Amino acid sequence: MESPFKPDILKGRVALVTGGSSGIGLEIARQLGLHGARVAISGRRQDVLDSAVAALAAEGITALGLQGDVRSAASCEGWIASLEQRWGPGLDVLVNCAAGNFLATAEELSPNGFKTVMEIDALGTFNTSRAAFPALKASRCPSGAAVVNISATLQYGATWWQAHASAAKSAVDSLTRSLALEWGEFGVRVNGIAPGPIEETAGMAKLAPGAKEFVQSTIPLRNQMGRKWDIAMAVVFLASPAAAFVSGDVLVVDGAAWMWRPQLVERRAVSRASRGVEGRSRAVGLATEEKAGGGAGAGGPVSKL
Ligand code: COA
Repeated sequence: MESPFKPDILKGRVALVTGGSSGIGLEIARQLGLHGARVAISGRRQDVLDSAVAALAAEGITALGLQGDVRSAASCEGWIASLEQRWGPGLDVLVNCAAGNFLATAEELSPNGFKTVMEIDALGTFNTSRAAFPALKASRCPSGAAVVNISATLQYGATWWQAHASAAKSAVDSLTRSLALEWGEFGVRVNGIAPGPIEETAGMAKLAPGAKEFVQSTIPLRNQMGRKWDIAMAVVFLASPAAAFVSGDVLVVDGAAWMWRPQLVERRAVSRASRGVEGRSRAVGLATEEKAGGGAGAGGPVSKL
């Protein structure tokens, strides 16, 4: 997919993407790199990090792998120290993409299972943002340093078997707003992106096993899932000067999927049903009037949908 942005739109920027060694995180790192940024990626598994750094380097991207766990504040502080040692002081873009999830009923979810997801998503976003704050403040980027928290839509309303992740992503969205409020005066913009169903991801494999066709049928925008590229382009936008006055927002990138509800009346039957109801209510009036005169009235039954 060709990017609609200028290839040098992020030239000179330094970025850190947590959970950047695979999936959506890797595509975000790749697109930040293809638009001119030097990119550090963090992850738990050294071998996966090494392969990701090699893949990014093969595309001409200056990349650095940082092993560790977002649940450890010490890990996060170490990453910032390492990247500043390598590339000098300051951080321009932080993408909090590390996340954990699985399907579990609330009664079967152990307290440790709940805590694990809360810690990876919510505490991890806080740990990395907090560790990065001095470096973000030191950014010389005229449009401000940018933090982008990758969230979700499953906590809007409620989602089956996602009590833990919904709680965690609600906390992430709340952090987005709180940090935007507190860090604006330092020129640090904080936004979120809420991806919907994205094809070829661990999320789809874990959360909707075998349900690809059904999921697609519930996506209003062309009944198509999103691509990792769609999320990465939203990150490039939020990191770029085009979003210089955007802070505290969560951009939903889901083809309107979270708004989907089953249709109570099929599209082709809407007009007939609607006019039928109106006709019937007119008919009630007419019937009453006509009863005296013995007529049946206009309209007729609404349904036969
Ligand atoms: N259903 C119910 N509970 C589960 C579970 C599942 N599918 N998978 C893990 N858990 C529970 C474990 O049983 C454990 O609780 P317990 O100690 O009470 O038994 C707890 O979660 C922690 O599991 P553990 O495997 O030790 O955690 P971890 O830190 O190694 O892994 C996960 C975290 C479970 C989230 C793991 O899937 C992961 O690291 N995922 C990252 C990638 C990812 O999930 N991406 C999808 C994003 S949508």
